[in-house]
Amino acid sequence: MSNQAPLPTEVDNVGLLHRDRAEGIVVECNGTEATISTVAGDTEASDSYWAVGQLISIQVGKNRVVGLLHTVEHDAETWDSNSENPILLKVELSGEVRADERRGMIFSGGITQYPYIGAVAHRIRKKDLSTIYRSSDPSAVTIGSLSQSADIPAVVSVDALLSRHFAVVGTTGTGKSTAVTLLLHLIAKHKPNQRVLILDPHNEYTSAFGDKANTITAESLDLPFWLLNLEEFQQVIFRGREGSEEEVDALREFIPQAKTMYRYGAGNSVRRKAGSGGSFTADTPVPYRLADLLKLIDEEIGSLDGALRRLTLRLLKSRIEAAINDPRFSFLFGSHDASDRIDSVLSNIYRVPIAGKPITVFQMSGIPSEVVNSVASVLCRLAFDLALASNSKVKTLVVCEEAHRYIPSDSGSAFAPTRDAIARIAKEGRKYGVSLAIITQRPNELDPTILSQCNTVFSLRLGNDEDQNVMRKAISNGSRSTLAFLSSLADRECIAFGSAVSTPMRMRFRNLALSARPSSQNVSDGDDIMAQDNASLTDIVTALRGDSSKEHQTVNDAEEWVLHDEPFATAPAPSYADAKSEVTLKPRSLLKRKSD
Ligand SMILES: Nc1ncnc2c1ncn2[C@@H]1O[C@H](COP(=O)(O)OP(=O)(O)OP(=O)(O)O)[C@@H](O)[C@H]1O
Ligand SMILES: [Mg+2]
Repeated sequence: MSNQAPLPTEVDNVGLLHRDRAEGIVVECNGTEATISTVAGDTEASDSYWAVGQLISIQVGKNRVVGLLHTVEHDAETWDSNSENPILLKVELSGEVRADERRGMIFSGGITQYPYIGAVAHRIRKKDLSTIYRSSDPSAVTIGSLSQSADIPAVVSVDALLSRHFAVVGTTGTGKSTAVTLLLHLIAKHKPNQRVLILDPHNEYTSAFGDKANTITAESLDLPFWLLNLEEFQQVIFRGREGSEEEVDALREFIPQAKTMYRYGAGNSVRRKAGSGGSFTADTPVPYRLADLLKLIDEEIGSLDGALRRLTLRLLKSRIEAAINDPRFSFLFGSHDASDRIDSVLSNIYRVPIAGKPITVFQMSGIPSEVVNSVASVLCRLAFDLALASNSKVKTLVVCEEAHRYIPSDSGSAFAPTRDAIARIAKEGRKYGVSLAIITQRPNELDPTILSQCNTVFSLRLGNDEDQNVMRKAISNGSRSTLAFLSSLADRECIAFGSAVSTPMRMRFRNLALSARPSSQNVSDGDDIMAQDNASLTDIVTALRGDSSKEHQTVNDAEEWVLHDEPFATAPAPSYADAKSEVTLKPRSLLKRKSD
């Protein structure tokens, strides 16, 4: 069809006509795509061949329309290695660079002037992107470079990342955790008041953040049981299984009464009719004593009313006692009492005040598996409630590693409160300054509604067809065909698309210094198998028994890396006024709220 199309031509010094390999001509264009006719380039020099994943710029008047090259086709019957071979490029259009009266050259999604037939196209140049990003978004940071050319920076907007949630997906080992760590380093540097809570199932993030991170382990966690709502409390008491309805009803009846007794004094211990817990529900986050709860159950067992459900109540009582006495649950029931420790809990987990450690790494692997969901649920719920109670002054980014575990696509297999808490952040968090980072190796197993709320996605290599299909559905119409090459990305390489990147791009994350990377507990790539033969059985047994006395190695040079290794766009340093806007929260305001 387009063999006849005009092509850029040049006459060389021996008088031969030949086409310019660096340019092409638009021969067809619809609302989303342009077809460009050109000639195959020289395969020796990377900047003179055309390949899938390159960003292409098309000159249209004073504007430059930008798109991602997703298909390259040979436009003739045969290939002639001695002369020029015509090829067709299919480019998905994503945005344009145009002059703005106030801001100079800007880059924006959407196209005001489509390419005309005959418009000249070329591979994007460094000046097209870097200067434009820098001038149009003060929160722009460089996270790597475009795959097509190492000297063109890949830039993201930190503001857009945080305000509209983001996801990092990719097969295992492709570099997701390292990419997230890189983003978190940059966020911590440019937004010193941004709190980050990492749900870390493999205990790998602590080493990456040095003294910026506050690590919470099963041993150091102090989460008063009364912060749990009824469903979360059930998970603990029934050890992760469904509780019997009668027992749950009894908890729903007695917990509010125990709360009333604590709040209004012992005089209120007089038995009252069911449901007379005053204005409290079993979900209200106010303290109560377990002793009161057990006493109320005892009183019911001894009463005439309680005769019918005596067995149920005895069972419930013994379950509660078993949980209280289980040393693995000491982080919940440690002090057995209702002392109102909410100040220290909030200041430790949610960094109020930040005190130089904006990042909380919650190491989940030491938490008993039966209650890990409950704990994750409370933490996500509180992150949202805190933002609400502080009028959005306490802004938290909740990072969910292995997110398909808490928010799976199959709603039956998830713990409802954790899913609800994360879904609430996904849907409403933006209004209050709570954001989500979703990381998963199986996007197909992740709740699609949560994925669709992530406005920026970094998709590393995805080999599985189903996972690729999910990504295709999750993203906007404009960049679907570009996902065709997801399975062929190299390690550390990704397609980035969504609100934080302006235009979909194939890019490679910058190299993160070893000391600033998450340290996987597993064998790292290239480990010599012979070197593994020095394992000590004593060490293994100690580890099996959960002795965590070995200190985590912390490294302080992460910051140094960020400061020194930033050759391209940088956001301006945060002002003194920003740093001073640190909040001191009145934790009581939380207690007044009823959880919903
Ligand atoms: N940007 C990077 N800079 C330096 N090394 C990297 C980078 N990205 C990945 N790596 C290396 O690649 C390996 C795998 O990275 P990473 O642990 O981040 O992968 P992952 O996708 O999170 O894997 P998993 O699914 O198993 O959690 C690590 O050894 C890491 O050091
Ligand atoms: Mg990982």
